[in-house]
Amino acid sequence: MEIIKNGDKKVVGIISKKSFPDDALYRASGFVYSYAEKGIYLLRNTLTGQVAKLTENECKAFEQLTKKSVSYTYVSENELTELVKLRFIVENDYSEAAQYKQVIEILNMMSRKKPGLKAYTILPTTGCNARCIYCYEQGIKTVTMTRKTADRLIEYICETRRDDEIKLSWFGGEPLLGHETITYICQALRDRGVPFRSEMVTNASIMTREMASTAKTLWNLKKMQISLDGMPEDYEKRKNYYLPDRHNHETVIRAIHYLADECIEIELRVNFDRENISRIKNYLDFLKAEFGKYENIYVYLSLLLQEKYSDKCVELYHEMFELQKYMRRIGLRQSSKEKKKLHIKMNYCMADSMDSSIVIDPQGNFYHCEHLPENKSWGNIFDGCTDKELYEKLKKPALIDEKCESCTFLPYCTPFYKHGCPGWFDHCAQYMGMKTEYSLSSIISSLNKETQE
Ligand SMILES: C[S@@+](CC[C@H](N)C(=O)[O-])C[C@H]1O[C@@H](n2cnc3c(N)ncnc32)[C@H](O)[C@@H]1O
Ligand code: SF4
Ligand code: SF4
Repeated sequence: MEIIKNGDKKVVGIISKKSFPDDALYRASGFVYSYAEKGIYLLRNTLTGQVAKLTENECKAFEQLTKKSVSYTYVSENELTELVKLRFIVENDYSEAAQYKQVIEILNMMSRKKPGLKAYTILPTTGCNARCIYCYEQGIKTVTMTRKTADRLIEYICETRRDDEIKLSWFGGEPLLGHETITYICQALRDRGVPFRSEMVTNASIMTREMASTAKTLWNLKKMQISLDGMPEDYEKRKNYYLPDRHNHETVIRAIHYLADECIEIELRVNFDRENISRIKNYLDFLKAEFGKYENIYVYLSLLLQEKYSDKCVELYHEMFELQKYMRRIGLRQSSKEKKKLHIKMNYCMADSMDSSIVIDPQGNFYHCEHLPENKSWGNIFDGCTDKELYEKLKKPALIDEKCESCTFLPYCTPFYKHGCPGWFDHCAQYMGMKTEYSLSSIISSLNKETQE
């Protein structure tokens, strides 16, 4: 047995065992996912993130432990004791859920956070120059931030921020429609000596070379997520811009070059569903030809929410992972966002880190989620917290869902109870399984490459 991926050192330290009873019965841990390809056998421990490579004999012996409990003699005779130490194999009465909760508690204690807010997600406007046929914001009232609100927001940031660098995430609507507000806020924060960096989620259609330069120098924009939908025919049909002569696929591709030339990290999010998936491969070829030379451009595929909840979800995810393999083959850089999903998580998203993160809409209202859930605003920048009860309710650590208690992927999903969250879906465990296999398959590909070399 060989550990080929070290995982999270802290978690390994917390859970690994130096000694264990030789009179107990042993079984495979529920936090272990096994995968074999091309004669290579891998085990991933979803709690520690470690990946173990087994010989064929070790693999056969381990397989037995997934079917029934075995004695310590069996474990030692088959040279599996290291896997017991590292908790790939556990005593019969071991509780995965209890161990997981203990790890989270210890990690929480270890990560003493500074007081104050660290991340501000700001919507300069809910208006947009596009009408994407799938947009979950359809029907939302168009509101744009006034100068008075921006002034108060600047004060609010100064009053509530953590005393090191803060992160401003610009969101919308289309945040670039509010580029003057962004410039105004960034300039004011600079004048006050507030250290900050920015990120943005945008369709990028109104980005100019000049604006890209301002984004780099004044907004301190480090990262941009740009949504795409396929070749011009698909893109323009789906984006349905109000002014298609001015905002279209060509202008966006040009904008991506401007931003990439400024060395801003760019994540191209290619949205897909059952209708356009057959044309995505072709689009990946286009992206490779257009942007392959840039080291700061990454691509990821994203299934539209409507499909996540549909009966086609698993099939479409399967196709997505095949497309990801294709991306690997043609050497298209994939976003690190996806990789992060396969690590133990202390929080799922901004919604369960209210100590450090806040969402502020164009009127200055507070939310815990960028989807601005209806009736879930608990205050505003002018009056502070106006609904303490709601704030406390949203902030309270949630219980682990019954369905998650016995799931192999619990460490990837956090204690956050996802019902009612737009990101949560019925086929999550199947999706995580496919994702884990994809990741283990990439490890096997690199092992084979190394051997060949
Ligand atoms: C609401 S938009 C706001 C920012 C900006 N206008 C943009 O399009 O990037 C934020 C993100 O949500 C994505 N989005 C919108 N509707 C969606 C849906 N129904 N399913 C999945 N993603 C969606 C967009 O592609 C974009 O990446
Ligand atoms: S560009 Fe963004 S905000 Fe505008 S309609 Fe499309 S997804 Fe919605
Ligand atoms: S959300 Fe889904 S994948 Fe995550 S632990 Fe729960 S059942 Fe498993």
